[in-house]
Amino acid sequence: KEHIAEVEKFEAKAKEELESFRIKYLGKKGILNDFFAEFKNVPNEMKKEFGQTINALKNKAEAKVTEIREVLENKEEDKGSYGDLTRPAEPIALGSRHPISLVKNQIIEIFSNIGFNVSEGPEVEDDWHNFTALNLPEYHPARDMQDTFFVQTNPDVLLRTHTSSVQVRYMENTKPPIRTISPGRVFRNEAISARSHCIFHQVEGLYIDKDVSFADLKQTLLYFTKEMFGKSKIRLRPSYFPFTEPSAEVDIYWGLNNEIDYRITKGTGWLEIMGCGMVDPNVLENCGIDAKEYSGFAFGMGIERIAMLLYQIGDIRMFYENDVRFLEQFKSAL
Ligand code: PHE
Repeated sequence: KEHIAEVEKFEAKAKEELESFRIKYLGKKGILNDFFAEFKNVPNEMKKEFGQTINALKNKAEAKVTEIREVLENKEEDKGSYGDLTRPAEPIALGSRHPISLVKNQIIEIFSNIGFNVSEGPEVEDDWHNFTALNLPEYHPARDMQDTFFVQTNPDVLLRTHTSSVQVRYMENTKPPIRTISPGRVFRNEAISARSHCIFHQVEGLYIDKDVSFADLKQTLLYFTKEMFGKSKIRLRPSYFPFTEPSAEVDIYWGLNNEIDYRITKGTGWLEIMGCGMVDPNVLENCGIDAKEYSGFAFGMGIERIAMLLYQIGDIRMFYENDVRFLEQFKSAL
């Protein structure tokens, strides 16, 4: 009777547990067989009760084994099953292109449509490619330790301050005609603020052929601003760069009803978007191009600046913080 109580209470979580229970009661050398063997020694007047009890124990033990086996087998089936395979899956979180990449790709596309290819070069440069070949005399303020991050001095190794260095490399290795744009990261030792950063991106362009004139430059810029901004009211202001002569700064007009962020415009309608000019003959000669035969123009713009205008971004630092709340807003822009 004690055994009947034990059998009734029995529970098993694993198959092995159930199997040892079965062997204990129903196995060849199990409790029940012991009892059946004992049967002949039981006094006659007790045989009936003894028989009924061990039969009850046997039935209960067998029922228990069947019952628990079924439960355990069902559990196992659940584990192996994949459920409803036609169910919709968890949504996959897709990222978005960075606004710098968006604008860079757009600039590349616009210039490739008029025959410009893309050239790239190292971010760590030597003095020749970043400065000397570009006609920057030794005392020029852009060479000042204040503006340039030096990796090493004497001989100078530095982080390029503009992608004009790529154009020098390109001219050294390519015969005109040349039509190339050089997008890339540049570095300047400047205080970080809402309007400037020590790292930013540029796209510089170079066009060299026979009889290239300032009119070609102006028409190219008109084409670009029309494609990029959907408007092309620009003006060229005389300026100075050591590597171009004459040099100019390009402003684009944003009408005052453009609702543009005043942190960017400072309240005026004319906005500076790039520098440009006719490549100085000294630069051509430095790069092995005959300045009597060839002439050309160059221009350079900051990608951040253009992205800030296009997307009305008031703080340049947002580009490098990688806050997903900022980045996610460019999901629909391609
Ligand atoms: N290299 C200049 C800069 O970094 C931009 C520029 C490029 C100006 C080509 C004129 C011609 O600001």
